[in-house]
Amino acid sequence: MRPSAFEPDALVDALVALEPAAAARRAEVRVVRAPGRVNLIGEYTDVNLGFVLPAAIDLEIRIAYLPTDDGRVELTRIPEGDTLGFQLGLDRPKDGTWLDYVAGTAWALAEAGHRLSGLRGVIGSTLPTSAGLSSSAAIELVSAWAMLDSLAATIEPLTLARICQRAENAYVGVQSGLMDQFAEACGVAGSAMLLDCRSLEWRAVRIPSDVTIVVLDTGSPRKLERSAYNERRAQCEEALATIMAEDPTVTALRDVTPGLLEATRPALDPVAYRRARHIVTEDGRVARTVAALEAGDMGTVGEAFAASHLSLRDDFGVVSPELDAMVEIAASVPGVLAARMTGAGFGGCTVNLVLPDAVAALRTAVERDYPARTGLTPRVLPVHATDGAGRLR
Ligand code: GLA
Repeated sequence: MRPSAFEPDALVDALVALEPAAAARRAEVRVVRAPGRVNLIGEYTDVNLGFVLPAAIDLEIRIAYLPTDDGRVELTRIPEGDTLGFQLGLDRPKDGTWLDYVAGTAWALAEAGHRLSGLRGVIGSTLPTSAGLSSSAAIELVSAWAMLDSLAATIEPLTLARICQRAENAYVGVQSGLMDQFAEACGVAGSAMLLDCRSLEWRAVRIPSDVTIVVLDTGSPRKLERSAYNERRAQCEEALATIMAEDPTVTALRDVTPGLLEATRPALDPVAYRRARHIVTEDGRVARTVAALEAGDMGTVGEAFAASHLSLRDDFGVVSPELDAMVEIAASVPGVLAARMTGAGFGGCTVNLVLPDAVAALRTAVERDYPARTGLTPRVLPVHATDGAGRLR
């Protein structure tokens, strides 16, 4: 939506226009937000208890709302104008709408013992949906902040992230890891976020100030994503089971060394072997990227990104021709320091680290070459790393 309509005051105006009762209580209207995320590196490593390095980004979802005491959650999407709602505490079957993420979050919060409030609100977004920037996790987090109302600030962000992940796994039905909800709950402005997905220890890693993050949306549909995502997880589990039979000290692919993987290779199905090889090598690339970012060594970051992209393409099998074309175009532009696909793959976006002076040239190259190669319309989105979900007023 338009940036001016996304300002907190404009969102309050939109609610007042819909709910005349809100006019008298205008000062009580709250506005909460949750950012999207882009993963710098560490793909599919979260579900194998390894390391990830995402950042929360300043494309986000906001809700302006008034709490109610009728236990009903009712949200109107703006500018579209459709209103959806449900009753807290009642079983609500999934219906395939965006409300599933809100109702799933309500269910997971209640299961964790949190008291929720009904609300009337409007929900707006500058975060593209179905682009692999985790708008689903952002709906979960922003609605958690709204339904918890003032209690939200008393819950550790990582705890909230885990509850929202549970909503996604158990209610929505995607066996996703913790990365998206973690980044969007715990984000620190100007930084990428390193998470150890086993110990759940995390820390912020500053992004060099002379580097701009540019997200490039391939505009290609991600239809197969959900089933293909769950299939990749199952293939990793299969590899793990075979390796565990050889070495019982291993409890996740995170524990597998390159040497152990090669020793187990004869026992592994060839596809499971390649899936495991991606995970084993990707964890090493996350470590190299963190060290290189901290040393300002962008050459090494660029190498790690390129190797990650190839591993996701050739070993993990999640890179579409459109993602490949986008990375190739970006990598040919001087001043683009690092480029790779980001997120679950099968379409969606690439992430690029770019010298500020080179952003315009990158835009020109993408808008000229990408449609010619794919017939699709790209989106060029320069973003900033931002803080995790919270309250604006
Ligand atoms: C999706 C999932 C994450 C993660 C990525 C791949 O975004 O939600 O948990 O597994 O894919 O890295």
